[in-house]
Amino acid sequence: MKMDSNKVYHLLYRSFKSDYLDENQVGDIIVSARRNNTLLEITGILMYRDKIYVQLLEGYKNKVLKLYEKNICKDKRHHDQKVLVSKGFKHVFLKIGAWG
Ligand SMILES: Cc1cc2nc3c(=O)[nH]c(=O)nc-3n(C[C@H](O)[C@H](O)[C@H](O)COP(=O)(O)O)c2cc1C
Repeated sequence: MKMDSNKVYHLLYRSFKSDYLDENQVGDIIVSARRNNTLLEITGILMYRDKIYVQLLEGYKNKVLKLYEKNICKDKRHHDQKVLVSKGFKHVFLKIGAWG
């Protein structure tokens, strides 16, 4: 992915898995994330353990915020999202090659 490092934006948040969601369905999220994020030029990491998600989204600010606010936050499969880091980077550029 080619990206102007001046525009790289990171959003890191944590949330809690909804009780009704089976742990086996967590993989479904990765499938749609891989597909959609590639089209949006967003990379990142999604971690899940003991009912807690931690996700780092990296990409253009407008695209990252739109995905987070319009899609991810409205998803009933998790709740109590809390943004831990929301920051644009001018010089530091942690480029994650593939969605993980
Ligand atoms: C913890 C969590 C993380 C998610 N991360 C992403 C993501 O990075 N990209 C994405 O497109 N959808 C993500 N989703 C799913 C979205 O909320 C939404 O279901 C999806 O974007 C809808 O797209 P689709 O109709 O193509 O599946 C996530 C959902 C949860 C619960």
